[in-house]
Amino acid sequence: MSTDKYLFDNAAEAEARARMTSLSAQHNEATFRYLEKCGIAPGWSCLEIGAGDGSVARWMAQKAGPAGRVLATDIDPRFIVADSAGVPANMEVRVHDIVKDALPETAFDIIHARLVLVWLPARLAVLDKLVKALKPGGWLLIEDYDAKIIPAEMAAADANAGEQFAKVLQALFELMSRRGLSHSYARDLHHRLGERGLTQVESHGAVTAFHGGSPGADLRIANFQQVKKAAIEAGLVSDAEFGDTIALLRDPDFTAFTPTMFSAFGCKPGAT
Ligand SMILES: C[S@@+](CC[C@H](N)C(=O)[O-])C[C@H]1O[C@@H](n2cnc3c(N)ncnc32)[C@H](O)[C@@H]1O
Repeated sequence: MSTDKYLFDNAAEAEARARMTSLSAQHNEATFRYLEKCGIAPGWSCLEIGAGDGSVARWMAQKAGPAGRVLATDIDPRFIVADSAGVPANMEVRVHDIVKDALPETAFDIIHARLVLVWLPARLAVLDKLVKALKPGGWLLIEDYDAKIIPAEMAAADANAGEQFAKVLQALFELMSRRGLSHSYARDLHHRLGERGLTQVESHGAVTAFHGGSPGADLRIANFQQVKKAAIEAGLVSDAEFGDTIALLRDPDFTAFTPTMFSAFGCKPGAT
């Protein structure tokens, strides 16, 4: 049974900040490339959902320029406003729940959400809402993890270490599933965008091997530490197993795969 409470609440500031930093380090380069491919340009009206640390929204604001604007939303935007880079004049930050709160229709040239819809049991209704919010000719870019296609432990040189990591990862996946996260919807994004009438649809998957001590490992440490108490209380994993896995994630000789990040985009038919 799922609840609608986000598992990785930004109020756990140390872990959430570490998560945002490693997500930006790992994925911004590809995200920017796909936003460029969608044609982001001066004067565009942009929407960034679940903006996290705001780094993608700030990049969009730079591309949109003074004639454009960016609306950056999050249920908890504390890291966007706290960032030393500040909030540019053409960017608005809004507390907004993409499931429950309204969005203007036919308002945006581009909408982006990374690692947000994957969490939401109402993700397909949210996709409908996002397509409505696009202007004709506007672009939707959705990026989410699929953790099942390529198991993380396949990259481990030492099979025992891989197995140990996989056990703690499965505990995390179980807690995520109980909150409504889908580990496999991202592979369907290509169809989901197409069946909503978007054209020029593309979907690309990227998986990366990471070493202990890298931003990829820091992300897993932040995630594990945030749910450690809940996972132990649920009997999914022991304190010792947690400790051993955190040590693996600090060991440069340990390697694992990231989940596959699908980046799917398409254009709403009509004039620009
Ligand atoms: C895993 S983080 C990803 C942050 C950022 N998009 C990135 O990829 O770096 C998910 C973000 O979505 C926000 N979020 C969760 N549920 C949301 C909802 N229903 N509406 C808007 N934002 C939400 C969280 O507060 C968090 O900042």
